Amino acid sequence: MDLEMFVTNRPKDLLRREYDVAAIRSKFQQPYDDITYFGMPGPSMLDVKEWGDYLGFIIAVENKTENLGIMQMTAGSLGLSDRTQILQGDVESILLNWEDDVGEIPGKDSFQVVNLDFEGGFIGFSNILVHDLRIDAIRELFRRQMHQQTSFLLFLTVGFREKRGQEYDLNLHHIREELAELGINAQDTINWYLSHGVKHKLKVYVPHLIEDYGRTFRFSLRAYRCFHYKGTGNVPMMHFIFDLKYSKRIVFPKRLSLKSILNCPLFQVYSDKVEASPVRPPLIVGGVESGFPSSRA
Ligand SMILES: C[S@@+](CC[C@H](N)C(=O)[O-])C[C@H]1O[C@@H](n2cnc3c(N)ncnc32)[C@H](O)[C@@H]1O
Repeated sequence: MDLEMFVTNRPKDLLRREYDVAAIRSKFQQPYDDITYFGMPGPSMLDVKEWGDYLGFIIAVENKTENLGIMQMTAGSLGLSDRTQILQGDVESILLNWEDDVGEIPGKDSFQVVNLDFEGGFIGFSNILVHDLRIDAIRELFRRQMHQQTSFLLFLTVGFREKRGQEYDLNLHHIREELAELGINAQDTINWYLSHGVKHKLKVYVPHLIEDYGRTFRFSLRAYRCFHYKGTGNVPMMHFIFDLKYSKRIVFPKRLSLKSILNCPLFQVYSDKVEASPVRPPLIVGGVESGFPSSRA
């Protein structure tokens, strides 16, 4: 999306207002003073506005300098100036270097609500360096959250292009092999994914990646949801909500099964409603997945 300023639409509003807020409400109990938001609210700060009752401190990241002043005014008009810090620069580099473009460091050591609301592609993006930076930034986020022993909700929104699906296909082949080693035949389901669009492949790829990184840093993925919608300008978008729980124990946290990742429904968001997509893969039934940690953890 090449718009200078982000423009919302009704599916996005619906997600923000109903589904995201429900996830925040169910994860955290009052008082909400200890809840720190870190993310990209954009100049209108619509997410912060919607979730404000549940947020104690807000770290708002923005990489378009022309948006910074507007953001400052928005925070003021929402009465949030005294508990909002605005950082300027790319969110990836702020997470990796722990300072923004003018040397300001995040005002909190860890976060309870992270909203990585990207406008462009996440993986399979035309610039491979951007892709790598995002992945590195997410790993670094997990590492820091682990050091502060902080469980968190991760909202991740990405646009995508249909034509760049090779990495997702490779991931599907790996999952099939991993399941086969456990005696589970996922051939039909994997074939279904391979022959369907990128949104279905992403629905597997992203949770698999987050689950894997999470486990490496002692987080278990307790629940997640995937939504598909058309963003402004009809750009296909995926929105994920991940509930990540930190575990102090040395043993690896329990694994979300690959089977449940493959079987998880994709939700389709319209202007006024959200429905499970009627286009579904054949469900994998039977088989017992081992509780042993994955060799990559
Ligand atoms: C999708 S909009 C935010 C929408 C908002 N979260 C909401 O719920 O309405 C993303 C904002 O982050 C900025 N942005 C996009 N990519 C960024 C990046 N990599 N680092 C920092 N800011 C970024 C954009 O300029 C835009 O203002």
